[in-house]
Amino acid sequence: MTASYEVRDGIAVVTMDNPPVNSLGFGNRRFIAESVRRAQDDAAVHAIVLTGRGRAFCGGADIREFNKPEATMAPDIVDVIRVVEGCEKPVVAAIHSVVMGGGLELAMSCHYRVVRRGTQVALPEVRIGILPGATGTQRLPRLIGLEPALNMIVSGDTVMSEVLAAMPGQKLFDRLVEDDVVLAATELAHDIANLRPLPRSRERKVEHPDAEAYLQFARNMVAAKWPHYPAPLRCLDCIAQSVRLPFDAAVDYERVAVTELLWSPESAALRNAFFAERAASKIPDVPSDTPKREIKSVAVIGAGTMGGGISMNFLNAGIPVKILETKQEALDRGIATIKKNYEAQVKKGKLKEDKYAQRMALQTTTLDYADLKDADLVIEAVFEELGVKETVFKQLDAVMKPGAILASNTSTLDVDKIAAFTKRPEDVVGMHFFSPANVMKLLEVVRGAKTGKDVLATVMAVAKKIKKTAVVSGVCDGFIGNRMIEQYSRQAGFLLDEGATPQQVDKAIEKFGFAMGPFRMGDLAGNDIGWAIRKRRAVERADMKYSRTADKLCELGRFGQKTGAGWYDYQAGKRDAIPSELVNKMIEDHRKELGITPRKISDEEIVQRLVFSLVNEGAHILEDGTASKSGDIDMVYLTGYGFPIYRGGPMHYASEVGLFNVVQAMDRFAKNPNDDAAFWKPAPLLAKLAAEGRSFV
Ligand code: NAI
Repeated sequence: MTASYEVRDGIAVVTMDNPPVNSLGFGNRRFIAESVRRAQDDAAVHAIVLTGRGRAFCGGADIREFNKPEATMAPDIVDVIRVVEGCEKPVVAAIHSVVMGGGLELAMSCHYRVVRRGTQVALPEVRIGILPGATGTQRLPRLIGLEPALNMIVSGDTVMSEVLAAMPGQKLFDRLVEDDVVLAATELAHDIANLRPLPRSRERKVEHPDAEAYLQFARNMVAAKWPHYPAPLRCLDCIAQSVRLPFDAAVDYERVAVTELLWSPESAALRNAFFAERAASKIPDVPSDTPKREIKSVAVIGAGTMGGGISMNFLNAGIPVKILETKQEALDRGIATIKKNYEAQVKKGKLKEDKYAQRMALQTTTLDYADLKDADLVIEAVFEELGVKETVFKQLDAVMKPGAILASNTSTLDVDKIAAFTKRPEDVVGMHFFSPANVMKLLEVVRGAKTGKDVLATVMAVAKKIKKTAVVSGVCDGFIGNRMIEQYSRQAGFLLDEGATPQQVDKAIEKFGFAMGPFRMGDLAGNDIGWAIRKRRAVERADMKYSRTADKLCELGRFGQKTGAGWYDYQAGKRDAIPSELVNKMIEDHRKELGITPRKISDEEIVQRLVFSLVNEGAHILEDGTASKSGDIDMVYLTGYGFPIYRGGPMHYASEVGLFNVVQAMDRFAKNPNDDAAFWKPAPLLAKLAAEGRSFV
């Protein structure tokens, strides 16, 4: 750390230096507290300027200390804030770039604040299920007013410094400057060096014409907007104390509330997601300094559903895309869909006309492979047939320049077989996007046996550029996400056989928090896709038992929304799922054939059977190395399958429930004669961890 303390002309300039964002780790906390005390004791110092070196004033708590003893080593953030605010000489914060969380709480404890235009200001704690617990809920309302403070804290949104500085009556920023913020803060420090009493935010009153009525209104709004999260309402409770209690009593209240939230399952889930997302980009045997290839242009093979969406990601990021098809009509259709999607965004005001034009100008088409030869990355999204992939990859191998990355968007085929169609398997990788590919965050990066480390590192960096959450998966049938969802779908079928209806199953899992239950999902994606996969598996994995209901549904031609009927009925042009008497009768008849007397299945049992079927397959996936960490599996489910984020992902959720309890429930299900006992055999890793009282995370 090269933090510095310099006295210039009676002003002590204290510069934090804890890259990348001057977070408040133990070393930095001690440095600030000691520097302020030193300045206080030095008769030659009249005022202090506090600033940060590099890319931020201060980004808040140090996540690297999370769960480590350093996190609570004194001085903690509140201690530092007390030292700064209590200083008898004026402390001026010189704020630039980023001031967030504990960094903003620190700034608000300074006596004056000078900010540079373009600074991002936020108290984002609510996003990890907690609240600004180092006096933030008390100081922000005192400095910008009750309503704006409540909006910022409850949403966690970032607001630009110039927007805040322009608010009438605000006291957060004393000066807004265009460039040298330390110079401006030093000038201010000279001007106010002898001014007393020092302005302290804790001593200000929160002005509002009818605070209680406003708080009641806000409470109703917040409760309706975030029904599954305790943190936004607790933020509101704390902010309410800023008008009700003296500062110190309100700070005590805030402390209790933040401690409670830290222990809440929702916060644990959100923190898991936060850390899992960061960790997903790290691959154990691919160091972060692995050289990457430059990706300046992309080619996409196939302009169908996926090819079009994939292309849009790159166009959005300003990267030129050349799309190849076999026929001009197919190209025209694909381009028309891309245009239609962009035009819809323009209509909704989400995309400006000039941006739309820029994006379309980056896109070109061809029918000739030779035109692709200079692309740095080519992504294949043609029909899901190995023979077609073979033709495509052989042609790519023949024309692409050396060093180009050859990717396949296959969702089920063996990436190693695809790589073997070329003489450069080290350049081949899977890039499995999810539909709609321009919207869904998830990208499964499928690592073949021979995929080069630099290829992987490059693809992970590309994913970041196009704003995807990339997770590395090994080669297997279905990769991480679809391999797990298959077990979930099988279990959903067994539930029907035993007595549940599609609507009961969907409702139970949607109440748990899934965006969509398995049957509504099937109707949306097309039940014929699963049917084709089951037919293939019937040959490859004859030991795998399935309920026959889904096949019977497809035999009736009920493929889902696209045929106007699936598990549910649909009215023309509408997407509302209407329970179908015909389907329910079909399920009942099938039960009779099986000789099963239906029983009432509780929502709790439905949820456990569906979620634990994901968990057990997840454990197999961890064990065989398809995923390198449980957080990767959670990210796949949070970003690609609508798993509720406040439950943290299937593996995190299982750990919260307790793996012992998961295995106990599975043993119970295995004894059910209408279920499949083999299905519920715990994966060896799950059994082992449960027996040792441990968890995945
Ligand atoms: P699609 O049928 O909508 O599009 C395929 C396109 O490829 C068609 O436009 C076709 O003309 C073109 N094509 C076929 N053979 C070609 C060749 N030899 N050269 C150039 N173009 C050729 O199919 P979709 O849904 O876009 O799927 C494409 C790939 O993406 C498949 O491997 C599929 O498994 C995978 N995938 C599909 C997802 C989905 O939800 N639809 C999700 C994730 C992956």
